[in-house]
Order: sequence, then structure tokens, then C-alpha cells
Amino acid sequence: MTVSDGKPMRLWGGRFEGGPADALTRLSVSVHFDWRLVPYDLAASRAHARVLHRAGLLDDDELERMIGALDDLERACKAGEFRPTVEDEDVHTALERGLLERLGSQLGGKLRAGRSRNDQIATDLRLYLRDHARTIVSRLVELETALMTQAAAHAETAAPGMTHLQHAQPVSFGHQLLAHVHAFARDIDRIIDWDKRAAVSPLGSGALAGSSLPLDPVAVAAELGFSAAAPNSMDAVAERDFAAEFLFDAAMIGVHLSRLGEEIVLWASQEFRWIEMSDAYSTGSSIMPQKKNPDVAELARGKTGRLVGNLMALLTTLKGLPLTYNRDLQEDKEPVFDSVDTLLLVLPAMAGLVDTMRVNTARLEASAPDGFALATDLAELLVRRGVPFRDAHEAVGHLVVYCQSFDKDMGELTDDELSKINEYLTPDVRDVLNVPGALAARKAHGGTAPDRVRDQLTALRESVDAQAAWAAGS
Ligand code: ARG
Repeated sequence: MTVSDGKPMRLWGGRFEGGPADALTRLSVSVHFDWRLVPYDLAASRAHARVLHRAGLLDDDELERMIGALDDLERACKAGEFRPTVEDEDVHTALERGLLERLGSQLGGKLRAGRSRNDQIATDLRLYLRDHARTIVSRLVELETALMTQAAAHAETAAPGMTHLQHAQPVSFGHQLLAHVHAFARDIDRIIDWDKRAAVSPLGSGALAGSSLPLDPVAVAAELGFSAAAPNSMDAVAERDFAAEFLFDAAMIGVHLSRLGEEIVLWASQEFRWIEMSDAYSTGSSIMPQKKNPDVAELARGKTGRLVGNLMALLTTLKGLPLTYNRDLQEDKEPVFDSVDTLLLVLPAMAGLVDTMRVNTARLEASAPDGFALATDLAELLVRRGVPFRDAHEAVGHLVVYCQSFDKDMGELTDDELSKINEYLTPDVRDVLNVPGALAARKAHGGTAPDRVRDQLTALRESVDAQAAWAAGS
């Protein structure tokens, strides 16, 4: 079957007498989603052409015409002049049609030697993911940078630190923002580590057993920027660990985005009023004119469902597959593409939201000591004076109950009241009942003291710079 006889071109028509049923064609087609692999498929084709040339299977002139046609095909795809048709089963079929249209079947038909769609698709998907992983890391770096800029401005801003969503101890608001940066920094480290395992080229594995032609998988791997060629052709066409592992990394980023999103939803609420979102990153209501809604943060939280779902979908597809390639593996791409698209949508919006939010410093500082948040500081003062922590805990507990029943703050009690509650509560214990002192006192490594927050920022800036450099390819 040729391109010119008006019949659809298939890569496997030879042994079939009739054409496929429409229902099969509709089930089998993937070109509507794998078309985005064009640049990667063409890069792999150029590398394969060079290897055929070195093996003596293409002469100099043929190689030159082959590369010229592949380049022209890439240009035509970019310009939208060459498009897949409903007849093209997948991206490989469509691009082979484009090649045959340019070179005729005599030369165009040579490129497929020693190669199968099985090693091609595994190669294309790795190239696509390694490329997009770098874009995702760049977007993550922008979110980290937005969080760090806010953290730098609020290293000294006291905020109510919470456990169980209840006031626990005052913290630096910058410390809390940097906690999110550490989560995203681990996500990036995970991707950089993933990339080492993804940098293995399946090309040369053929359908499953390698090729009897004198090809050079190691040279192809190097040309495509991989650090090695797959050591086992069967594993190379069958495994999708790199895709599943990427989807885990994406799901984990989603989980982190959803936790930040949830906090922002709370912070923007009337009850908290910790932040004011900029108009550009908030939405209104069609009925309530006064509303300003945190849709960006909610969508970040909501889209985590699909990121987690995509991981589950692929793991379920892979489970129980016999070696080697099975058509089930065509189902690997949509979850992967969806996770990439989702992250590239959400990350810039979250970076913008964080970058432009206005922090209500006065409100944070005023509420930092609420809920007897300095009770631990008082108990620890008593410990420093030699009181066993058990007794100190109890004394301060009684103090809290007393304050609650008389609706007073701990700092408002008279000397008399203090000493009546417990003999350890001498008048000077009031000295620790101040928030800046409480923050500054937590000055050991990893603590919330503003000085430690600034140390964290210095260290984080350095590692975020290294992450940005990785994403930029250096
Ligand atoms: N479209 C297929 C996929 O995405 C390409 C490989 C097809 N190979 C095959 N033997 N039918 O997995």
C-alpha cells in the first residue's frame, strides 16, 4: 500500500487481505494525543538515519536527503502545513507518510530498518518527559521564588503557628512560608534524581530483541542526550517505570500545591484575614457583588485529584502485563500528558497568587499570642529555673484555666493572682510573655527565630539557583 493510491497508509498492511473494521480503527487510533511527540520522534529518526548510514545501509547522498526531508517535515509540522489525518493511526504512521511524500518509497521506506514503533514510542516518551520535566522545574522555581520573596519580607512577622488548626505557638510567618518552599525543593530534587533513571535510551531494541543489522544503540543514545543505552531490549520496550515514577513526582507536587492552596483559602477567609489576594488572582461571584474568591488556590487543590488519579491509572495499566510490548502500553501517554499540562497550568497561577498577595501584618501579629500561645514559653522558663517540666506544665495549665474563667490574658494577671495560682509564678515570669521574645528564643537550627529564618533563606536561595540552572540545562 502506498501513499499515492488513495488508500490509508498503514505500517503493517502486508499480511492482511481486508482492511480493519471501523470499530478497530477508532479504538486503535492514538494520533489525536500522541501528535505532540512529533519533535521527539523526528529527533530519534535523525539519529537512527545517521546510524543506518554508519552501518552502510544509507549512502552519503541518501543520508543527506533523508535528514533534509526530516528537517522539512519538522518545519511543515510546526507551520501547520503537515497535519495528521483521520487515517493516520499514530504519530509514527503520520510522520512516515510525510517522509514518503517527500522522498518516495524507495528512499523513504529505508528509515524503518532495524526499528520498531515499540522502541520508538518508548524513546519518544522519555525524550518528551525529560524535556518537560525541565519546564516544570522552571515553573516550580518561580513558585519557590515568590514564596521566598514573601518570606524575606516577613521573617520578623509573628503569626499564630498551628497544630490541629488550633493556635499552638507563635511562629515567624516567613518560617511558615519557607516550610512550603522546602516541600517544593524536595519535589525538584526528586525530579532531578528521576532524570538519571530516565536518561536511558530504548532505541535499538527494535520490537523486543534488538536488530540483526549492525546498528549502534550507544551512539544513538549519546546523540539524543541520553547517558546510556538500555542494557536489555526486552525490558526497554516493556517498562514504563520512568513514566510511573514521573507521575508519582507530579502527584506529590499536587499534594504540596493542595496543602498550600488550602492554607491560602483559609488565610483569605473573613475569619482569618491574614492575606488579601490581588484582583488579578481572585474571582468574583455572579450573584454576590461583594465576593472575592480564592479560585486559584481551590483549583490547585482540586486538580490534585487528577494528578493522583493519573498515577493510579498508569500503575493499574502496567500491573500484570507480560513481557514485552503490549498494546495496553498505548494507555501510558494520556495520563502523562495530562499531568504535565495540569502542572504547567497550575504552577504559574499559584506563583502569581503568592507573589501578589498582600500580607496583613498587623492582624497576624495581633493574633499571634491568642489562645494562650505563650504557655509553652512560660513552662519552659520554669524548667530553666529547675522546676520539673511535669510540675511546670501543671502550673501553667492552672493559669490558663484561671484566665479563661476570668476572661483575662496571662499578662494581665496581678502579682497576687499569679502567686495564688502557683508558687513558681513569680512576677518576673511576665518577661517571657512577649511574642518577639518567644520567636527569638527558638534560635537553634531549624527553629523559627527570625535569624534562623534568614539563614534558611540564604541556604534555600543557593539550592534554588542550582535547581534553576539544572532546568536551564547547565
Ligand atoms: N501507538 C503505539 C503506542 O503508543 C505505538 C506502538 C505500537 N506498536 C505496536 N506494536 N502496535 O504504544
